[in-house]
Amino acid sequence: MQSSHQEQNAHATIPKTGIWKWIDHRTGIDGVLRTALYEPIPGGARFAYIFGSGLLFIFISQVITGVFLALYYVPSADHAHTTVAYITKAVTAGSFLRSLHAYGASAMVVVLLMHLSQTYIYGAYKGRRELLWLSGCALFALILGMAFTGYLLPWDQRAYFATAVGTNAASEVPLIGETIKRMMRGGTEMGTLTISRFFVAHVFLIPACIFSLLASHVFLFRKAGAAGPTDEDPYEPQQKVELFYPRQVLMDLSLTALLIVALGLLCFFVPVKLGPPANPADAQYVPRPEWYYLPIFQWLKYWHGSLSVLGIMVIPGVLVAAVIALPFLDRGAERRPWKRPIAMTSYGFVMLMLVGLALRSQYLDKHDVGVAQQLAKQKTEEDAYMSKPFEPELSSASLAAVNTKLADPVAAQGKTIFEDHSCNACHGDGGVGTAAAPALIGESAKRSTVQLQELFAHPTAKMTAGGMPAIDLPPDDLKALIAYVESLQ
Ligand code: HEC
Repeated sequence: MQSSHQEQNAHATIPKTGIWKWIDHRTGIDGVLRTALYEPIPGGARFAYIFGSGLLFIFISQVITGVFLALYYVPSADHAHTTVAYITKAVTAGSFLRSLHAYGASAMVVVLLMHLSQTYIYGAYKGRRELLWLSGCALFALILGMAFTGYLLPWDQRAYFATAVGTNAASEVPLIGETIKRMMRGGTEMGTLTISRFFVAHVFLIPACIFSLLASHVFLFRKAGAAGPTDEDPYEPQQKVELFYPRQVLMDLSLTALLIVALGLLCFFVPVKLGPPANPADAQYVPRPEWYYLPIFQWLKYWHGSLSVLGIMVIPGVLVAAVIALPFLDRGAERRPWKRPIAMTSYGFVMLMLVGLALRSQYLDKHDVGVAQQLAKQKTEEDAYMSKPFEPELSSASLAAVNTKLADPVAAQGKTIFEDHSCNACHGDGGVGTAAAPALIGESAKRSTVQLQELFAHPTAKMTAGGMPAIDLPPDDLKALIAYVESLQ
């Protein structure tokens, strides 16, 4: 039953004059705002209800920061890392922006868990709210999908190897596993096709689904009405209502303010790092997922061989099905947690399992000397890469292209000699280096012309061991070859 004060509030008319009156005539905006703000909340405003709008705020922030990142980002194996490095190291406030987006994703998962827990503990899924719950479940899956697809995009070591593990896990699914993996990667290996698939999912497909589901979620919420406290009837609310505006709005805004301050401080003082570019040939790298995927990561370690179907399909499948079907399984009107022992015990058990698995994974990493050392080394490499100034990384193809544009005719002649003598067989086209021999780029900074002549006449033991023949050329050819090697920048 509404208090007379709130009655007045709901029907009070703001005097409409001038431009506002004109806009309202054309759009009916006044009524829309009124409907949005004067939503009745049985039992009154509470801090327990702030998480939904907190999620909406982070989502909007992710969209805005994401659009700015996309202004610079190029989704290809040759350019992804260097464009993210540019954002992180060269763009004004770029590191802050990227950190906001990356930490925003973590904040989203945290607030999502709070929102889900509140709904669950308050029994707010009861009372004809099945579709509201289902749209929430779908949104949950989509957010995890955003986190998974976004993680690969920087294409550094961490991103590459974590996604290699993630996509490999999909191949454990019986029968169709390999197909799923190949569809995600755009082939058997990870490369540009993988990046563009993840990019399209991250920027177009999943956000489009989120927008429409979010709209249905809010619509279904307003249709069903706020559930109110746990002693409220989920079907026919009895308690005195308070309107959403102003007190609940202020409570919601307090979470928003907290998020702004916390994320701002974190991004300013602990910016998100970028590691060295992905090197698929690195066999030593120990991949680790983002914290919210740690429980799954640890869980998958326990299931091998014939039992893997149980651990990878059956148990998670049953759990997910139970979560989705919750409002159909648990149909009682009772919402007080202490009167719902099964629901509360299951919730506690699942949460404990998740936290336990994540902690176990951290514990194992600390206590396995080899792994701990490698992880420390990876961290050092990341820090070293971060402290270097921005340097454009050119792909071997574009380097070769740059190097073929030789202005100096002597050097151009040298290029022909370089190729005729198969120097490119080991040193690569344009001297970019291969597994067989180092890059020759920047040689002029290391050695003088005389030193190069000397080196070619008397190759080092390592060069001989690497199969590099001694160079015996007429003086003009030698001069041209050296001019070419010196032109490689
Ligand atoms: C069979 C493979 C092979 C071929 C062919 C070859 N090289 Fe090399 N080259 C090497 C290896 C291996 C090294 C380096 C060994 C080391 O110091 O680690 C080397 C080193 C060099 C270096 C010194 C690089 C440095 O930074 O230390 C130069 C310059 C060089 N090669 C030029 C040439 C030229 C010019 C040709 C063609 C006439 C040529 N190489 C052909 C394998 C080859």
